[in-house]
Amino acid sequence: MKFETYSTSSALVERATEFFMQTAAQSIQAHGRFAVSLSGGSTPRALYERLAIAKFSWQSIHLFWGDERCNPPEHPDSNYRMTAESLLNHIDIPLENIHRIPGELSPAKAAEAYEQDLRGFFGVSPRFDLVLLGMGDDGHTASLFPDSPALAESVRWAVAAEHTTPPPPLVSRVTLTFGVFNAARRVIFLVSGAGKASRLAEIQRGCDYPAARIRPTNGEPLWLLDSGAAGLLV
Ligand code: 6PG
Repeated sequence: MKFETYSTSSALVERATEFFMQTAAQSIQAHGRFAVSLSGGSTPRALYERLAIAKFSWQSIHLFWGDERCNPPEHPDSNYRMTAESLLNHIDIPLENIHRIPGELSPAKAAEAYEQDLRGFFGVSPRFDLVLLGMGDDGHTASLFPDSPALAESVRWAVAAEHTTPPPPLVSRVTLTFGVFNAARRVIFLVSGAGKASRLAEIQRGCDYPAARIRPTNGEPLWLLDSGAAGLLV
């Protein structure tokens, strides 16, 4: 596994920003666009705020999300709302480049609508240029939680996922599935905080948490960590 550890959150954010911008530039040069799946939760907010002030053209960049809580976009728990507050409201990006998961719909209808959007964009196979993921302290990633039926999904690209046990928020979700994440050209995890350290150490030892099942065919993920999250790694 490829881990990079940074002693301060600003150093971690700068590294993630550099990786994001380099990958975007390479993708746009190679095939005219950069399709990225963003992560939710709280960790990426600082990265999105940094990207919002970067000297950067967003015209050829398409933003998707790896998962969404089934709430309206203005809800405090919405990943879209967190991204809008930290990034979208501060950049010049064509509206059609923002591929929001319609969390205001029922979980099944939201997943169906999102999958149609993805298939309209990618065609027969989804190939993100970059997937940004986080990890919960239970080892989940996106909304692929331990013991969830969504872990076994091998046909659909986006599915509804019930979520009734901690970590919060305990609300239905829509999540991309392993097949989509593992087809990506590059995957990075952004993980911070000592609360993630024990789970990360178990993953390093080979424990099969959902986050450990992200194994892109194009090369293993890069884990960008702060010293808290990396505290128990060997
Ligand atoms: C979500 C996220 C989720 C997140 C982890 C870590 O919708 O909750 O997509 O997978 O990345 O739960 O969350 P924190 O960054 O808040 O620790």
